[in-house]
Amino acid sequence: MSFPKQFMWGGATAANQYEGGWNEGGRGPSMFDVTTAGDTKNPRLVTYINADGSHGTMRQGGDLPEGAHYAVLDEYYYPNHVAADGYHRYKEDIALFAEMGFQIYRMSISWSRIYPRGDEEKPNEEGLAFYRGVFEELHKYNIEPLVTIWHFDTPLYIEEHLGGWLNRNTADLFVKYAKTLFEEYKDLVKYWITFNEINNTVQFMKIGGRTPEDQDFENAYQKLHYQMLASARAVKIGHEINPENKIGCMINGSTNLPFTCDAKDVIYCNQLWQKNIFYCADVQCRGEYAPFSKRLWKEHNCHLDITDEDLQILKEGTVDLFTFSYYHTNCVTTHETSEKDKVPGNYQVGVRSPYVTYSAWGWSLDPDGLQYFMEVLYDRERKPMMIVENGMGAIDELVDETVHDDYHIDYHRTHIRAMEKAMENGVECLAYTSWGCVDVIASSTGQMSKRYGQIYVDVDENGNGTFNRYKKDSFYWYKKVIASNGKDLD
Ligand code: BG6
Repeated sequence: MSFPKQFMWGGATAANQYEGGWNEGGRGPSMFDVTTAGDTKNPRLVTYINADGSHGTMRQGGDLPEGAHYAVLDEYYYPNHVAADGYHRYKEDIALFAEMGFQIYRMSISWSRIYPRGDEEKPNEEGLAFYRGVFEELHKYNIEPLVTIWHFDTPLYIEEHLGGWLNRNTADLFVKYAKTLFEEYKDLVKYWITFNEINNTVQFMKIGGRTPEDQDFENAYQKLHYQMLASARAVKIGHEINPENKIGCMINGSTNLPFTCDAKDVIYCNQLWQKNIFYCADVQCRGEYAPFSKRLWKEHNCHLDITDEDLQILKEGTVDLFTFSYYHTNCVTTHETSEKDKVPGNYQVGVRSPYVTYSAWGWSLDPDGLQYFMEVLYDRERKPMMIVENGMGAIDELVDETVHDDYHIDYHRTHIRAMEKAMENGVECLAYTSWGCVDVIASSTGQMSKRYGQIYVDVDENGNGTFNRYKKDSFYWYKKVIASNGKDLD
């Protein structure tokens, strides 16, 4: 099979991991600006100052002690402050994307660059001008922007003073921000994503290293409801402002597989699909909570603020596209497993599968899982798909101004083949954007050494380096793939 003529190839980044310029151009801080770097053994930490002036740290997702406030502390390094320095180097990067032949580039807007605290009357003009410059630069090379409105980075002021996503009013602030973008960039952007990996909120409850209690579940489902409501309202407004807009959800496609054929494992696995994937996908694509949702809420004694009017808005604000990320599968079981058989994934823990290999970060390499995910979700949601994140984090070695990254090439080759198989089987897929096409800060660990991209950025784990860009072997390979519209994968 060959890919349709209008299929779009490209790459993806996110503002907080790519841009840097954290306190430039009138930008306000987000949670990532007070989050340190970690690694596979040590978690990232959030820093703050206590009421008595002493310094403190906590795991991500924790609650600030009484009287404390988030703060940037001299004794820590914050990798997202400079990131890949895209704020100053985006023109150079876009020229390289164009050289690879990109037809689409997925990026996100930093909310606090547009509304520094989140609750201002008027947007920050300097922030608006910055993204206008980026979109114009992309159009110069006929690259279509695909814009994520929220990629995990709520302004810190909202988190600290307004109760973050547990406050219904945060949805109003988000809708105002989204409306500003739809109006401001009406002539420049037609592909949008409302919330990145919205399902992470319930999927990765264990992040923060504690066993979640009923209250944590109630909070997570409540936050998620306000986010899905905000998303539906934004979709409606986006369509009113420009009927040509195509707006997608963004689901983290961590694919669960049963470890054994014991029906108990299969049921358990199916219930994880329901909670982790279908719960959000159904609301965003079909406009209503699936029947199993009531069981999930009851299981944790959740009493949620969901009004009849909200349910109507969810119905009216369904997305046009099923946009998703895919990295790996996760093998699950109800049977006892020893510590040594456990493997970490994208914020998850599963059982070691005998059928796949694992990256240095413990993420499984499983292209068949991508085909499976696409077929299941297309059957269920029937929306045109876009794979907007896919790739493998690995340690690259810069030798003679290049990187011989055959591992990245293998990963993409096998996953593009899997996407092709799903399409042969009837799935409509419009685009593929490789994650971190230019090296960015890893989201889970904050490391720069976990590199996905086709373009190497010369900066180390502590922010030292020239920030110069170098083309890896995968750069030339991907260029060939795009030029042949996916035919030449060798
Ligand atoms: C997804 C996120 O979860 O996975 C990205 O949308 C992230 O922001 C990507 O970068 C890969 O994860 P990591 O931790 O390797 O950067």
